[in-house]
Amino acid sequence: MKVAVTGGAGYIGSHAVAELLSLGHQVTVIDDLSAGHLAAVPESAVRFVRADIGDLGAMTKALDRQDALIHFAGLLSVGGSMKDPRSYFETNLVKGMTLLDAAKATAVRRFIFSSTCATYGVPHGPLTEDHTKEPVNPYGASKRAFEQVLEAYARIGQVRAIALRYFNDAGARRDGSLGEDHAHEEHLIPLALDAAAGRRPPLTVFGDDYETPDGTCLRDYVHVDDLARAHVLALEAVDRTTSPFTPINLGTGHGTSVRAVVQSVERVTGMKVPHSVGPRRAGDPPALIAVPERSRTVLGFEPAIPSIDEIVETAWTWRKAHPQGYSSAR
Ligand code: UFG
Repeated sequence: MKVAVTGGAGYIGSHAVAELLSLGHQVTVIDDLSAGHLAAVPESAVRFVRADIGDLGAMTKALDRQDALIHFAGLLSVGGSMKDPRSYFETNLVKGMTLLDAAKATAVRRFIFSSTCATYGVPHGPLTEDHTKEPVNPYGASKRAFEQVLEAYARIGQVRAIALRYFNDAGARRDGSLGEDHAHEEHLIPLALDAAAGRRPPLTVFGDDYETPDGTCLRDYVHVDDLARAHVLALEAVDRTTSPFTPINLGTGHGTSVRAVVQSVERVTGMKVPHSVGPRRAGDPPALIAVPERSRTVLGFEPAIPSIDEIVETAWTWRKAHPQGYSSAR
């Protein structure tokens, strides 16, 4: 298939591109490099279009004669969205609609969307895809709003879409070629690894008084290679789903506490993670754990790397080789 991938130079996007290429698909990476890394794009193996997804002319050119679109490009920081909500709706919703205009103009109907468990808000009961959607931050709200646009367009036959709602994406490509490199790192595993290596200040554990087994928050960590594979499965499934718009959770169904992640980092690195317990972080639900049933039945998805130690191991291998992220490679 000819597959266009927006945000293909980003963390999950670059892993999906690697997976697509390994299966023989022809890939066009569309990225403005505002957050992605050119070093994460195998330029000789893909067609690379440096452009903003809000540029209708560039998108129409880029999507010409493509069979499918996987849309990762977007803003992704929960905290950033609290400070600058407008940018989140501008990029994740309005520019996404421009991309849909380009998809219409070029008759690209298969649309796989990078969504998030932040669309649910604070969980009450099991997180199936039908759980209420009451996002508690503009990031989750902007992703949910775009899902609703996709659903409306799907109902009138313009697209067939799958929205993949990721839980906690983590780890790095097993062959060591790709990893996580955000300008402002906020995620637990990279921060804990860097704290262990003495490259960042000690970790603050955000609260240990939650009603969870050890008092710290539970999250469902999914390996980024597993997420990447799920996108390829979604491409294969999107023509045969019962509904033209299908949201699907991507998680393992198992929760790991912040303390358990810290212990895993200590086992894997053989070093202590200097840390202290601080106050809760605003907006953190005690537990976010997927009900992964639909990903099994609709996609045939089963995580290949479900153990937290293996996830942390891949992140550590990449981090050791790239202490400054992708700039270490140049
Ligand atoms: N945490 C700490 N200290 C830190 C960083 C994180 O204790 O320095 C804790 C958080 O409180 C949370 C857990 O580690 O309990 C995981 O935090 P991350 O920041 O790594 O990830 P989040 O669970 O906040 O974020 C995930 C996804 C987002 C999504 C969000 C929905 O990465 O895309 O869930 O709430 F929006």
